[in-house]
Amino acid sequence: MAKKTIEDLDLKDKKVLVRVDFNVPLKDGVIGDDTRIKAALPTIKYVLDNNGKAILFSHLGRVKTEEDKAGKSLAPVAKRLGELLGKEVIFVPETRGAALEAAIADMKDGDVLLFENTRFEDVDGKKESKNDEELGKYWASLGDVFVNDAFGTAHRAHASNVGIASTGIPTVAGFLMEKEIKFIGEAVEDPKRPMIAILGGAKVSDKIGVIKNLIPKADKILIGGGMTYTFYAAKGMKIGKSLVETDKIDLAKELIAEAGDKLVLPIDNICAAEFSNDVPTETIEGEIEGDVMALDIGPASVALFAETLAGAKTVVWNGPMGVFEMSNFANGTIGVCEAIANLEGATTIIGGGDSAAAAEQLGFADKFTHISTGGGASLELLEGKTLPGLAAINDK
Ligand code: 3PG
Repeated sequence: MAKKTIEDLDLKDKKVLVRVDFNVPLKDGVIGDDTRIKAALPTIKYVLDNNGKAILFSHLGRVKTEEDKAGKSLAPVAKRLGELLGKEVIFVPETRGAALEAAIADMKDGDVLLFENTRFEDVDGKKESKNDEELGKYWASLGDVFVNDAFGTAHRAHASNVGIASTGIPTVAGFLMEKEIKFIGEAVEDPKRPMIAILGGAKVSDKIGVIKNLIPKADKILIGGGMTYTFYAAKGMKIGKSLVETDKIDLAKELIAEAGDKLVLPIDNICAAEFSNDVPTETIEGEIEGDVMALDIGPASVALFAETLAGAKTVVWNGPMGVFEMSNFANGTIGVCEAIANLEGATTIIGGGDSAAAAEQLGFADKFTHISTGGGASLELLEGKTLPGLAAINDK
């Protein structure tokens, strides 16, 4: 990565501002998944080991009104972080002001402080999300250097990432940011070949940018999930009452023409009369006749995908193959997950979101080379877009 990283800085005695992405699932004060907190530990520990003062901050959820703040405090995250670090994390329930400034002034080398949800600043004119200049300057004034480790937020140009960096404060990438860019960036720009992308999920519209960007770069693109049936419709195949985006059929035709035999579609599907786990299912090969909908790819498709994957050196997977939350329609996603996990000598990457959740839930997470912590950010990177949070980091 041609960006400066935390290892390029001398952190001793420095107040180190660290933008992390602690946007974790939180219900009634209980954290549903602490992956993002764990993923930030190497950077935080590095600051502490090098005798810096770590001043952490993050957004959590979306906040528009005073009422939206309920349940979105970072206090439970501070507690969990303290458990993971095995040391006290000073939590300041403010995003600015005298109490925050005093707490920072009291910090000693090796201390960790987390301040409140940056999006609490959105209640008063969306200052965080609209990258308010004064807010970026204020947060920058709280530290000596700025480490951006919030890969999951890198596709946003907000005050807490781009705003702070724009003030001219030395701005570097943390270890998580560096790792994410290395794996996803290399997979797309300079992959070991064959490079195979597996794209699933409900809608073609969500994946157009990724498919377009990957057609010239990938050796094969395997399609699964709900978007399959818009491609079927584009080929003139019957789809029963499966999900279809009629306004995207022409676009799907263009993608098929552009990709040629690089694009591989499922050859059979698991179908049911209703979107339910409590109705009988049938496996239908080829066109989907009758009053049924396809909710997963079938076993012959899984075998075809596994065969296509054999020998791959780089695999990027984004999006489940079916409605994997329902057991009757999970086998396509399980099969593909297993096929990728069992590849030998391949760099295997999951581009965040639902497929990361699927791999975790299915117990395959440790079989992948890299599971991204960013859903939207990894998708935009796969689309070939410039991420503003990353662009704002100082070049080497
Ligand atoms: C994410 O979870 O994708 C990031 O934390 C960004 O969150 P946002 O979509 O609310 O900006």
